[in-house]
Amino acid sequence: MELLSRTITKDFLHLFPREEWSFRSALRSQTMAFTHDYHRYPAKFIPQIVSKLIREYAPNRTQVVLDPFGGCGTTLVEAKLLGHRSIGFDINPIAKLITQTKTTPINPNTLTNHRSIFLDYYNCAPSTSYKHHPRIDYWFDEQSIAELDKIYFAIKEIKNHNVRRFFLCAFSHNLKNCSRWLMKSIKPTIDKNKVMPDPKKSFLRHLDSMIKKNYQFYCRLELLGYRDVVASMYRKDSTKMWI
Ligand SMILES: C[S@@+](CC[C@H](N)C(=O)[O-])C[C@H]1O[C@@H](n2cnc3c(N)ncnc32)[C@H](O)[C@@H]1O
Repeated sequence: MELLSRTITKDFLHLFPREEWSFRSALRSQTMAFTHDYHRYPAKFIPQIVSKLIREYAPNRTQVVLDPFGGCGTTLVEAKLLGHRSIGFDINPIAKLITQTKTTPINPNTLTNHRSIFLDYYNCAPSTSYKHHPRIDYWFDEQSIAELDKIYFAIKEIKNHNVRRFFLCAFSHNLKNCSRWLMKSIKPTIDKNKVMPDPKKSFLRHLDSMIKKNYQFYCRLELLGYRDVVASMYRKDSTKMWI
């Protein structure tokens, strides 16, 4: 073990920082392009780094890209944009939901139609009382819970699987906004002064931005002929045998 660590350290001594791997000047519009800002996630890759890695180390499009700690799917999105099939694993079910949403372009007209269908479902949503987690009152006020229940109810009514998942992804992203969680913290911290947004307005705002991004992603993939390139995301523990 010590020998291995000494060898690795020695190898790293010959490595020098290379400017071409620095993406300091990348704009937010570039790092958040296409579907990359569908959902916040801790420690996301900078997509430009992943794209360069794939282009350098997998120059042939027949090569399959694997990310065993896939997170919110930055690698799988970039692989698809480059025409590579990809596989991702993550132990977190939300990572799977986000990645599958981010790698599935949806016909823009289908999404626009479903936005109206969703609003119809929302407008006739009953005052459902879901069985909530006992700690929900710690994070959400009563009014927000009632509104979020109605949004969730309306989403569950959507029949098209990919569209329902798209809306669920927007819903999941919006939960932090509507809770007492301090926005700038990734650790669960209460913000005593937080002004709660209207859950429906903030949900629709994010949904609309996702609909725009889906349009760009869809058009780019259509143009390149990569729309049907497969990106498979599984909920798996990568430290265990999975084959
Ligand atoms: C830093 S995040 C990866 C973020 C990713 N690079 C991106 O851009 O979205 C690390 C991920 O590893 C996942 N993870 C941790 N232990 C794991 C395990 N044993 N098997 C699979 N995934 C695991 C976590 O759930 C988390 O999503």
